Amino acid sequence: MKDVREEYHAEGLTEASLHDDPLEQARRWVDEAIEAGLPLPNAMTLATVSEDGQPSSRVVLLKGVEGNGFTFFTHYDSRKGSEIAVNPKVSFTMFWQPFDRQMIVIGEAHKVDPEESDSYFASRPHASQISAAISPQSQPVSREWLEEEVERLEKEFPLAPVPRPEQWGGYRIIPTEIQFWHGRPSRLHDRYRYRKQANGDWTIERLAP
Ligand SMILES: Cc1cc2nc3c(=O)[nH]c(=O)nc-3n(C[C@H](O)[C@H](O)[C@H](O)COP(=O)(O)O)c2cc1C
Repeated sequence: MKDVREEYHAEGLTEASLHDDPLEQARRWVDEAIEAGLPLPNAMTLATVSEDGQPSSRVVLLKGVEGNGFTFFTHYDSRKGSEIAVNPKVSFTMFWQPFDRQMIVIGEAHKVDPEESDSYFASRPHASQISAAISPQSQPVSREWLEEEVERLEKEFPLAPVPRPEQWGGYRIIPTEIQFWHGRPSRLHDRYRYRKQANGDWTIERLAP
């Protein structure tokens, strides 16, 4: 791994090329990754912290950049959900390798309204609804048990939509800090950090690479 060296050739990032609103800028970067057909353009590595200060991370999928935050869906009683329940402070990173772009978001995760979770759950494919409904996410299980549970639910709801389990739903991450990183040659990368002020305005500054 020490011998793996990537040279970055991307054009620079300037304050003038960035949107004043970092959420709008984030939406642009995600949209550009989607439009370019990059694999998993909405994959984000989400870090949470336990009550005793132990961080943990995992990949989830970003499902929306709404006016005030970033939305993803999961099981509320998973490890991440239990950690968010005691400490809503989270961070996530997205990396779009062909664009030499990284985005880092720091903020707080809050559950979305149940109606919003209902509506997204209802839009998922039937098989995904079943898998979500039977999974006690993050608990030890056997493959056999999982398959039996899927079979049981498939009989109960052969075609009908599966009701959203109460413990499954969305979170919206309300950012306090968003950083945009762009790889440049010779490790002289461009980094811009937005930070939210008490009055709601965002400040922007360049950071050393
Ligand atoms: C590409 C990819 C996308 C994923 N998307 C989600 C997702 O949107 N929601 C989710 O709960 N888990 C998703 N997972 C699974 C999580 O990484 C993780 O295994 C799961 O959420 C349990 O995490 P936890 O035990 O740390 O809470 C995804 C995994 C990968 C590799």
